[in-house]
Amino acid sequence: MDMRANWNYPTSVRFGAGRVAELAEAVKAAGMKNPLFVTDPVLAKLPMTQSALASLPAAQMFSEIKPNPVEPSVAAGVAAFKGGGHDGVVAFGGGSALDVGKLIAFMAGQIRPIWDFEDVGDWWTRANSAGIAPIVALPTTAGTGSEVGRAAVVTHEATQTKKIVFHPLMMPKITICDPELTVGMPPLITAGTGMDAFAHCLEAYCGSFYHPMADGIAVEGIRLVKENLAIAVKDGKNIAARANMMAAAAMGATAFQKALGAIHALSHPVGSLYDTHHGLTNGVFMPYVLVFNRKTIEDRIKRLAAYIGLRPSFRAFLDFVVALREEIGVPHTLAGLNVGDDKVDTIVAMAPKDPTAGGNPVPLDKRAARTIFMRALEGRL
Ligand SMILES: NC(=O)c1ccc[n+]([C@@H]2O[C@H](COP(=O)([O-])OP(=O)(O)OC[C@H]3O[C@@H](n4cnc5c(N)ncnc54)[C@H](O)[C@@H]3O)[C@@H](O)[C@H]2O)c1
Ligand SMILES: [Fe+2]
Repeated sequence: MDMRANWNYPTSVRFGAGRVAELAEAVKAAGMKNPLFVTDPVLAKLPMTQSALASLPAAQMFSEIKPNPVEPSVAAGVAAFKGGGHDGVVAFGGGSALDVGKLIAFMAGQIRPIWDFEDVGDWWTRANSAGIAPIVALPTTAGTGSEVGRAAVVTHEATQTKKIVFHPLMMPKITICDPELTVGMPPLITAGTGMDAFAHCLEAYCGSFYHPMADGIAVEGIRLVKENLAIAVKDGKNIAARANMMAAAAMGATAFQKALGAIHALSHPVGSLYDTHHGLTNGVFMPYVLVFNRKTIEDRIKRLAAYIGLRPSFRAFLDFVVALREEIGVPHTLAGLNVGDDKVDTIVAMAPKDPTAGGNPVPLDKRAARTIFMRALEGRL
């Protein structure tokens, strides 16, 4: 099958191997003459990044970003944006670089502090929309789906809390999904980011709101994960598997407009307190959250299991999740991420307050968060 296409859902997506070659034209089509090229310091050194940058003669690079990005990176990027007289952002990287790039484009036009735009109620309406610069996004991981999302995640360092900043115009104007950009991802990052895409689809599908459109996207996303993630981990050069995972990632972020849930609500505090990889952390929590939510989601999971070619039972789906994790090297317990019980009280207090907690099909209070966390710590399914 020719895995090359142009989509206009949920934004303009140019999908297919080799399409990074269209970057200069996409930048022009997005109305930019002088973009800031935002990436992370590891990617900055790679030949594929250098050649993408070289295709934009006027662009300047900004790469002061770390995984689980923090607000000072955004502030430094805004200073670079203004200092260079830039008129847009090319965001090139995994979720960390994409989110910082999106936040730079957003904050370049604001006078209020970034925390005033957290994804709470209608806080996004506080923003000066006219000041938001256009964004062209190129994902180099297949997980977060930030390339087709209207939000960005950034850590508030004083409270060690991951905050979600939302504005509809943070959606990239044009996204180039070129699976060749993900070929160099090491197996464990491929596995972790893939589990993030899986978690987005699964939590959206199980979420406690009415959104059949999101449900449809989520189940097909999960089928793509089932049929491609292990191949992408073991054979990183398999472009069909890489492309299908890139599609699954974009589908996850499209679906989670509906909801996320306890996987993310627990993974966010663990990620900000221990600096663990977001997707791997989700992967550890996934089966424990499934079991915790079982009574409420059992019928839905049976339908999902049937769709992806399993016996239509909750058990069959749970066994599949556990086997996939093992096959791709995602740890079964939090110990595998060097997370212990030293901060359990803080984590179980933070999880119910995370903005993703409200979508969990079973209410996530402190007690529930403690139950799930302790099971994930001890490996008790
Ligand atoms: N905006 C959203 O909707 C959303 C959704 C989920 C997660 N997130 C956030 O995204 C971040 C995680 O993003 P991520 O999982 O993509 O990881 P990442 O961007 O932090 O990257 C992880 C590592 O992989 C490296 N890397 C990335 N692409 C590579 C490639 N092609 N080849 C070699 N190395 C490569 C990076 O340099 C980095 O060292 C977290 O901060 C998380 O909270 C955002
Ligand atoms: Fe996520």
